[in-house]
This record gives sequence, C-alpha cells and structure tokens, in this order.
Amino acid sequence: MNYQVLARKWRPHNFTEVVGQEHVVKSLINALQHNRLHHAYLFTGTRGVGKTTIARILAKAINCENLQDFNPCGVCSVCRELDEGRFLDLIEVDAASRTKVEDTRDLLDNAQYAPSHGRYKVYIIDEVHMLSGHSFNALLKTLEEPPPHVKFLLATTDPHKIPVTVLSRCLQFNLKRLLPAQIFSQMEFILQQENIEFEAAALKLLSRAADGSMRDGLSLLDQAIVYGNGKVPTEDVRAMLGTVALQPVDDLLIALAQGDAAAILDKINEIANLTPDFSDVLQQMLQILHRVALIQQIPTAVDHDFDIDMIAALASQLSPEDVQLFYQIGLVGQRDLSLAPDPRSGFEMVMLRMLTFKPVTLQQSPVQSVNIQQVTPKSPIKTVLSVVETVPRKEASVAVASGGESDWLSMIVAMKLNGMTREFANNCVLESIDDKVCTLIIDPDYIRSARSEEVLQKALQAYRGTPVNLVVKAKKTTIDTPAVQLTKEREDKQQASVDAINSDHNIQALKDHFDARVLPGTIEPV
Ligand SMILES: Nc1ncnc2c1ncn2[C@@H]1O[C@H](COP(=O)(O)OP(=O)(O)O)[C@@H](O)[C@H]1O
Ligand SMILES: [Mg+2]
Ligand SMILES: [Zn+2]
Repeated sequence: MNYQVLARKWRPHNFTEVVGQEHVVKSLINALQHNRLHHAYLFTGTRGVGKTTIARILAKAINCENLQDFNPCGVCSVCRELDEGRFLDLIEVDAASRTKVEDTRDLLDNAQYAPSHGRYKVYIIDEVHMLSGHSFNALLKTLEEPPPHVKFLLATTDPHKIPVTVLSRCLQFNLKRLLPAQIFSQMEFILQQENIEFEAAALKLLSRAADGSMRDGLSLLDQAIVYGNGKVPTEDVRAMLGTVALQPVDDLLIALAQGDAAAILDKINEIANLTPDFSDVLQQMLQILHRVALIQQIPTAVDHDFDIDMIAALASQLSPEDVQLFYQIGLVGQRDLSLAPDPRSGFEMVMLRMLTFKPVTLQQSPVQSVNIQQVTPKSPIKTVLSVVETVPRKEASVAVASGGESDWLSMIVAMKLNGMTREFANNCVLESIDDKVCTLIIDPDYIRSARSEEVLQKALQAYRGTPVNLVVKAKKTTIDTPAVQLTKEREDKQQASVDAINSDHNIQALKDHFDARVLPGTIEPV
C-alpha cells in the first residue's frame, strides 16, 4: 500500500479546513463576496504555515462553478481537476527551480491567451524571491498591465528579497506561525480520523517541536507513527525527539525549589539518558522561569503553551527573588556552557550554582552580579560587561521588639506575602507573638488598609497553623522595620558593588586602554 505523508494527505481543500490564518481567510472571502479580487496577491510567512495551501484554495475559489458560502465546492470539474493537479488554467511554478529569465518569459508570454476552461488563468509562483533580476522584470511587466483574465498568487518565505516595484503591485498577506495549541488540535483531529492511538502528552511534545510550522509538525508525526509502530506514545516521542520532554525539566525545577541536591542530580542523570542538547534543556528551563516570574506578578498572565498547574505550583514554591536569581544564573550558564569540559558537567554546575545561591535563609551569601555599560568615545561600539562575583554579606539583623521568638523578616519571607500586604508587613515591627495574639507596631503616619491587615492575619494563621489574632498598634518606635533594614542593606550592597567595580583591575585596564568610563548610576547589584 502506498503511504501518503500526512502533510499531503491532509492539505486543506477549502477555507474552512485551514487552521488559523483567520485574518487572511476572512479578507479573501470578503473579496470574493464583493467581487473585489485584486489581480496579484503575495503570501508571506515561514515554511509550512499554509501559503501554498491558501493560494491553491483561492485559485479554486476564483474558478469554482458552484461556490458554497464562498468556499470552493470540491465537486465541480474545476475543483476536482485542481485538486488532482490537472487543471489547465492553473500554472504553478516553483521559482526555486526555474530562475532563468527565459523560463519566466515563456511562462508569462502565455498570460495573454484566454483561459481554456475556467474564468481565470491563475499563476502560482512559489518561493518567488528566488527569481533572478531579469525574471522579476518580466514579471513586473505583466503585473503592470495584467490581462483581465489573469491572477497572480505569489508566495515567499523571504519578502525582503523581492523588489519593491513588485511588492507595490501586490496585496500582501503575512501568514502567522501556528501556535502549539493549533498544531496540537490538528494532529489530534488527523489521528482520530486515521484511527491511530496516541497519548496527548506525545502530541504536546510534537506540536512544540514543530516550532510554528504545521508541515514540520505533521512530518514529525509521520516519523513518530513509524517509530511507535503505528501508535504515538509519549515515551517513544520523547526518545525520538531526543530533546527533553518537559516533564524532567519540570521535575528538575521542583527539586530545585525544594533544595534537594540528590534529586537534582538524579533528574540530570535521567535527562542525560535521553542524550539531549543541554543548552536546549537550559533554554526550556529559562522559558519556564520566565512564565513563573510573569505569573507571580500578574496571576492572569496564563499561556496555554505551558502546563499551567506546574507553573502555578512553581510560582507558589519559589519566591520571586529565587526565580530572578535562577534565571540570571541560567542565562549566564547558557553562555558558559560551551566552555565547560562537557555539556553535562557544565549543566550540573549551573544547577548546583542555583542551589548554592538559593537565598533560603538570609544568612547565606548571595551571588552578586554587576552590570556596567562601558562606552568608548573613540568608537561607536558599546559593550555591556557583566561581572559576576560573590560578595560576603552582613548577617541580617533581626527586628524583634521584645521577647518575640522569631525573626519578623524571615516570617514575612516564609509567609510569601505579596504586594500591599508585604509592603505593610515590612513597615511593621513585631512586638510579640504567642499562641493567640500577634502584636505589631506601625508608625502612626503609615496609611493603613484594612484589607492588608486581613490578608496578613490569614497568612499568619496559615503560617502558625492555629487561629491568631492580629493586633496592630500605631506608635513610634526606634527599632528598624524590615523596610528600613532592607533599604540599609540595599545601600550597603550598592556601595559594595561600586567598590567592587572601582577596584576591579579589568575595569581599570579598560579605562586605561580604551578611555572607558563607568556610566554614573549604571552599577547595580542583582
Ligand atoms: N494553516 C494550515 N492549516 C492546516 N494545515 C496546514 C496549514 N498550513 C500548513 N498545513 C499543512 O502543511 C502542509 C504544507 O503547507 P503549505 O501550504 O504547502 O505550506 P507553505 O506555507 O510552506 O506553502 C499542508 O499540506 C498541510 O497539511
Ligand atoms: Mg509552499
Ligand atoms: Zn467547485
């Protein structure tokens, strides 16, 4: 039996079957409806997003004898001949293989003759940017005075290589990359029609790997079916893609959130068995961290490309500071990965670095990274230099007014307070706390909000595991609030960074040899 590849077998035959690209389809249907077709269209976009497909559907719609809601009927002789690739008035050219001027000239010379069968002669010129300059001129001449019975449908992945003279005579449509979710549903639909068993997680992996191209996605699906012997299970797809399925990366992040070094090394081992590209793994990790950071700030910033439950779980387990730190370490690690003796050990070091500098308690020394912009007046080159170093940090002092058993600042961190409530808590001093009552002191000038106090009371209760009454006394105190401590610490850190930069001999060398100067206000500790 002949196996026809899925991408060909499932090429949409009418506008309704096209996935996505609504903006294009809608305009074309409107034009058909009002009989206002342009004589030349240019479809642009990356490979496998529907350029050729839409051009063929439009060619059919222009000539179909029995349009159904402006969709080609699929049964008239025009539609059938066109679908079978034997419609005489459709001239399809792949410019990539026909770039000589004579070819194009021959082709276009025939444009003046009336169509033999349909209403219009349609030229589809694929990869039109590959035409030579002479061929473009020949095309341009026809485009300038197109015979009324001719339509040009041009397609390209690279519109920048098309002369503006040609561009200006076309109505241009830019096709979008397809979303993983769109590719996923199409794969799901096709497999159901084909009666092929699959696991949803497998399709998730494939639709991401397709990288926005439906054709690439369907080719991967073809491969997966062969690999899985007629089925599409997740394990096989994972192995086939060789890239790491998201699950281990998620697990890795969760182990990191829990500070579990053994689990981290275990997971890396598991990932290594899939012989992945570790830089890819790191990339995935950065993408996840980015999502986590977004969702921590804007809880509604949900992206359906990601596993929402996992992102939410990480967002609640990691503090925003952790996320920023991991991201920063990952980013720098990405750059240094190629310098490591081998990618796996490089990756392990990045993960361990994240673990080492995870600011679980305030007593640990954090990583400090300093960015300096250095501008040389002699040349327009602007370099951004990034120095990463560890600076020992003063132990955070604790604000407890009297007899309190715990450190208010670390309680605030542990309660994972956000926004207004955190701000409020940072401005309080803990006077006392016991099984029933927590007493805080706040400056009488601070503008209080009942809502923050309510949220704080609930958080305290959750933190202590017992009902707690919150009493807030408005009075002056000489004890530093966490807000004051943090400001002081920030100033100390800032001063330490400035000192580090000023005493760095690499920077001194840059200053000496290139006339570099450190832009005031650009040194920032991270
Ligand atoms: N928007 C889409 N909707 C449904 N299938 C698509 C879409 N885009 C591409 N495909 C699938 O990919 C194959 C190749 O698409 P094609 O239109 O030739 O891509 P290109 O943009 O490279 O011209 C089609 O046969 C079809 O199976
Ligand atoms: Mg194409
Ligand atoms: Zn028809």
